[in-house]
Amino acid sequence: MNPDLQRPKGTQDILPPESWRYDKMRRIALDIARQYGFNLIETPIFEQTAVFLRVGEATDIVQHERYSFVDAGGVDLTLRPEGTAAVARAYIQNGLYNWPKPLKLVYWGPMFRRERPQAERYRQHTQFGAELYGSEQPTADAEIILLACRVVERVGLENPEVRINSIGCAVCRPRYRQALVEYYADRREELCQDCQNRMEKNPLRLLDCKIDVAIRQTAPDLAEYWCDDCRTHIESVMEQVQGAGRTIRRDPYLVRGLDYYTRTVFEVGHPSLGSATALFGGGRYDGLSGQFDGPSAPAVGFGMGIERMLSAVGNRLQPDPVSLVYIAHLPGFENQAQVLGEQLRNFGLATECDLLNRSLKAQLREAGKTARFTVIIGGQEWEQKMVQIKDFTAGSQQPIAVQDLAGHLLNQLRSLGQHSDGGANL
Ligand code: HAM
Repeated sequence: MNPDLQRPKGTQDILPPESWRYDKMRRIALDIARQYGFNLIETPIFEQTAVFLRVGEATDIVQHERYSFVDAGGVDLTLRPEGTAAVARAYIQNGLYNWPKPLKLVYWGPMFRRERPQAERYRQHTQFGAELYGSEQPTADAEIILLACRVVERVGLENPEVRINSIGCAVCRPRYRQALVEYYADRREELCQDCQNRMEKNPLRLLDCKIDVAIRQTAPDLAEYWCDDCRTHIESVMEQVQGAGRTIRRDPYLVRGLDYYTRTVFEVGHPSLGSATALFGGGRYDGLSGQFDGPSAPAVGFGMGIERMLSAVGNRLQPDPVSLVYIAHLPGFENQAQVLGEQLRNFGLATECDLLNRSLKAQLREAGKTARFTVIIGGQEWEQKMVQIKDFTAGSQQPIAVQDLAGHLLNQLRSLGQHSDGGANL
């Protein structure tokens, strides 16, 4: 294929059956979110560029990885690289700070980052994210972590291990930052180029450098600089998450790549993805909404990478079986087959008919591949308002009146535990 016509680097086509697993993951995530009392929010997939600049100009996704463009009206726009800034903008613009607290929101959708293509790093990826506004309590952090862990576990990844840290607050972080810079300044010559830049712009990120790992081992530990409030906060979060039966451990080097965090930061990985690749990550960001010309509100959230989740889950997440009914017809009865198919679909039954004018034999062969039940129509039987129903798995075939067909199929599927949609009124 002409390279100009191929999909952009770092993007994917999600084909069946993967697309059904993706869809199932969305349903599971949103169901669990409702279980925790979260509501769904949708924001545009592009925002004015200034919105994302508030995420922090020292952040890679803002500085180097933005998909930005100026539209015909001269407005500088950016495809969203993440959801937190967009939700913060919506929170202020729609006056959501007046809604009852806490405000619990989830979203699902595509994010765009012009990253160097590599395993599990896409230029378009999907995030399931949650943002909880209005509570500064550790219970809010714990609930966010527990929600995300429940999704991870429900889709088939057992025992997620949460790594957590506190990067301190406005009271204690400056003292730590200074100690860290002093420590690294003495070793400046040994540092990689990125770390030399980080020393000026974002010293905390010195800690998560994947190259200068030996140097950080003797660096000052954040925990020794936490103020009492920060210490109590992280201890309480860990106690709750642990108390709920989850595995959580402090990672002294976890600082995360976005600038807006304060206190809690956390990530969850998976052995199949390698240690540098997170399934989800997040933290507390009490100062962000105040940067959108509105009242400041405490907030905490996470973002979960769905492509990474699918890759880690593999076949453990199976699409729901579709117990298809196939309507095969004798020659000349294709119109009746299509009409009967539509009647069965009215009852919520997944029904297919022949669309290729195939012989009855070929139709039955096709039905045998996918359908649990085949209905055969035509001839004299049809004149008497009767059809044949064939159960491939049971190996049985019997005549049945057309008017009893939907009820019979629904009963069969219910007894197989594969149809919960009632509504059949025969
Ligand atoms: P993030 O860590 O940048 O945080 O992204 C969240 C998750 O999205 C990651 O843990 C990863 O699973 C997935 N992800 C990120 N970039 C890619 C990529 N290029 N390809 C595939 N998956 C990716 C945020 O975006 C924050 N907004 C999370 C948050 C919400 N913090 C507070 N609230």
